Amino acid sequence: MKESLLRLKEEVLKELSKISDSNKLEEIRLKYLGKKGEITKILRSMGSLAPEERPVIGQIANEVREDIERAIFDLKKKIENKLKEEKIKREYIDITVPGRKRELGTKHPLTQVLDEIKDIFIGMGFKIAEGPEMELDYYNFEALNIPKNHPARDVQDTFYISENMLLRTHTSPVEVRTMEKSKPPIRIISPGRVYRSDEVDATHSPVFHQVEGLVVDKGISMADLKGILSTFAKRFFGEHTKTKFRPHHFPFTEPSAEMDVTCVACKGVGCRVCKGTGWIEILGAGMTHPKVLEYGGIDPEEYTGFAFGMGLDRITMLKYGIDDLRLLFENDIRFLKQF
Ligand code: PHE
Repeated sequence: MKESLLRLKEEVLKELSKISDSNKLEEIRLKYLGKKGEITKILRSMGSLAPEERPVIGQIANEVREDIERAIFDLKKKIENKLKEEKIKREYIDITVPGRKRELGTKHPLTQVLDEIKDIFIGMGFKIAEGPEMELDYYNFEALNIPKNHPARDVQDTFYISENMLLRTHTSPVEVRTMEKSKPPIRIISPGRVYRSDEVDATHSPVFHQVEGLVVDKGISMADLKGILSTFAKRFFGEHTKTKFRPHHFPFTEPSAEMDVTCVACKGVGCRVCKGTGWIEILGAGMTHPKVLEYGGIDPEEYTGFAFGMGLDRITMLKYGIDDLRLLFENDIRFLKQF
């Protein structure tokens, strides 16, 4: 019995010496020390020994068990330490390696110009309004005094989605939507994307941007329209900027006008940009048509208003001397970085 115990110990130590992972170690532990393990079996069979042998063999058996337990414990520690070291090595960070530079983006020129326009109008008490790009025929045309079969519908080549649904051709539908849900005084601008079925070239794109404006209150007149828009032009293009209002026609304003500003390229002398005239057209405007006020739920006997709409892309191109609209949509980082 004593011999087989000592042999068992030798055997275990030999097996342990070949092991380097904790799963195998656990296997061995169970094989010898587990409930059905070899050592346990021997300890259990002590009952069959002669009474005088029991303490002697018992002591040896306990010593053997303790030795094996210690050997397993030591090996377990060794394996754990090795794993820890490997982990530390793997996760080592060389803080002397130079960092990776992150490229900072810039705001798109359209966004920069829109931010400026917003600031100017907010400074004059305007709020920002929004409307859907997918719009009802009703808001895009009907409520703006452009009934079915009106020739003005042909001027704007419309993307129709269904009989009553389209991609808005201008931001003017936001005027009616705003009037419907608010009471005068109204002072809003509404920037956004608009769509027209145009071929792409240096000055046309099927998607472009407008900024709409609407003011409704008691006693609003053409003088207010001129005052606000001239102030805007001076703040945006510079104090030297003059404005000129030419008669025009829009179905939703009466009277209507187009506003020209001193050419930004030649300061009015006459050049290629202004085709020698010294003036550049930047927006359409007019006194809100009484019918449009009515569509918006506002009594035209009590209130008057004016509206305007400008092309954001065009103004951005003028401001930065960009000669091809396509550059604004291609998002070439080398182009965008210049602003
Ligand atoms: N909606 C007009 C356009 O797209 C611009 C405009 C807006 C004119 C408001 C007058 C008043 O051309």
